[in-house]
Amino acid sequence: MKVIVFGATGMVGQGVVRECLLDGDIAEVLVVGRTSTGIENEKVREIVHADMHNLGPIAERFAGYDACFFCLGVSSAGMNEADYRRVTYDFTMAAAGTLVRESPNLTFVYVSGAGTDSSERGRSMWARVKGMTENALLAMPFRAAYMFRPAFIQPGKGITSKTPAYRVFYKLLGPLFPAVRALFPRFVTTTGEVGRAMLEVARHGAPKRVLESADIVELGRR
Ligand SMILES: NC(=O)c1ccc[n+]([C@@H]2O[C@H](COP(=O)([O-])OP(=O)(O)OC[C@H]3O[C@@H](n4cnc5c(N)ncnc54)[C@H](OP(=O)(O)O)[C@@H]3O)[C@@H](O)[C@H]2O)c1
Repeated sequence: MKVIVFGATGMVGQGVVRECLLDGDIAEVLVVGRTSTGIENEKVREIVHADMHNLGPIAERFAGYDACFFCLGVSSAGMNEADYRRVTYDFTMAAAGTLVRESPNLTFVYVSGAGTDSSERGRSMWARVKGMTENALLAMPFRAAYMFRPAFIQPGKGITSKTPAYRVFYKLLGPLFPAVRALFPRFVTTTGEVGRAMLEVARHGAPKRVLESADIVELGRR
């Protein structure tokens, strides 16, 4: 399989790239972002592109892929709706629109989050915008599209978040993750499980289009 990872410098993206490199069935990983991952590996190709809103100039490089794992995203903390929507909805739609034209047989996996609002009408701004993004992706003519809604994610060894507040959170609470996971197994997953679950749905599909944390854990263990 040939796969594309957006947001490969982030915590979730690093996790899925790691799983792709361990997987003998993955022939190529194209990583796309505004900053370089610095990864040197024969399976990895990289596009560093500043304007995620406009992928037109690089569109033809997205032809012939089997899956896209879209891990680009931001925390809504301190952001107004317009700015959060620009990154969350507009960037995702720009990528999805290009991919559906260039690789029509592709499976698109989007990382939203637990609590995403499919009605798009609730009180939580981030949940509405993620819901709008999920709904738009689900309506597009990909081979398949899956929405991943993790809750807490334990980063694998050496994997760090690009969000400073999350880095502090993981540093302080990281040692408690095993206990939290034992108490609330439905709400805690790992970057490794998320990555393996993405590969699983790209290969074999899943019974549902919207996958909550417990579904991700189950798929990641197959
Ligand atoms: N971490 C969690 O526990 C968790 C839980 C549930 C859902 N999620 C969701 O999972 C997704 C990924 O989260 P994460 O924890 O991996 O985040 P992260 O570590 O902060 O990484 C974010 C990624 O998005 C890219 N990005 C952010 N803003 C960008 C912009 N304006 N233009 C281009 N690229 C941009 C970053 O690229 P740069 O390296 O260039 O900054 C990085 O690759 C998010 O949508 C998040 O809401 C995360």
